[in-house]
Amino acid sequence: MHLNPSNPIGVFDSGVGGLTVVRALMERLPFENIVYFGDTARVPYGVKSVETISHYTTQIAEFLLAKEVKLLIVACNTMAAVASQVVQDLSPVPVLDVIDAGALGALAASGKKQVGVIGTPTTINSNAYARAIHQYEPDVRIYSQACPLFVPLVEEGWLDHPVTRLTAQEYLKPVLAQDIDTLVLGCTHYPLLKPLLQEVAGPGVRLVDSAEAMAERTAALLAELNLANPQRSSPDYQYYVTDVPLRFQTIGERFLGRTLANVHVVKW
Ligand code: DGL
Repeated sequence: MHLNPSNPIGVFDSGVGGLTVVRALMERLPFENIVYFGDTARVPYGVKSVETISHYTTQIAEFLLAKEVKLLIVACNTMAAVASQVVQDLSPVPVLDVIDAGALGALAASGKKQVGVIGTPTTINSNAYARAIHQYEPDVRIYSQACPLFVPLVEEGWLDHPVTRLTAQEYLKPVLAQDIDTLVLGCTHYPLLKPLLQEVAGPGVRLVDSAEAMAERTAALLAELNLANPQRSSPDYQYYVTDVPLRFQTIGERFLGRTLANVHVVKW
């Protein structure tokens, strides 16, 4: 299949959280066109079953492939944890997912090979990060912790709030007790909590931001496949969502770090 380098990159997530990945991509690859899909009508995925998530993931991947994307990026850790293979199987274009990117980021960061992973309950129960890390290095020790309250706290904008700090201290206690030197932020929402999490974890722990790790992986893959957009005009960004909930614009802009325009509502 011939892929056109000026075609967009397709990025998708269960909601607005994947905009942290879009933001990292915009910074790392400022000439790439991007089509984003956020399933805002059906978010959150992090507490749903594997069957339901696989079904939704298929629908979204097919939607983006019809937009002639040159690359698909699974920005949602929960989808990547349980439905990455579904996307690989149906996609004629290359597929990258945040878990693989985060796993490589963790391996690069950890000297002691003692790694903590935090994410939604579905991501943590799937054990996907441990599998991804062990595929590269079997002797790394992984300690994981589901942090279901972080997603609503971030959407509330409580990025530096006593409630969030207390919650983080409680969630991180067991993983920090294991003498980890690296903590993988295995959820789209967690990069916004980075300063607070770094304070709670202390200076001896390196945080791996899976959004940044993904932007690096994307840049490397586009170079390797000769798929980087050669055009130097300002790129086109389009956003598709399945609902426009209350405070969508505010929350979306917080994740993206800039104005959110070109938003289209898809009715399924
Ligand atoms: N996007 C999800 C993730 O990265 C978090 C939100 C959700 O539960 O759908 O795991």
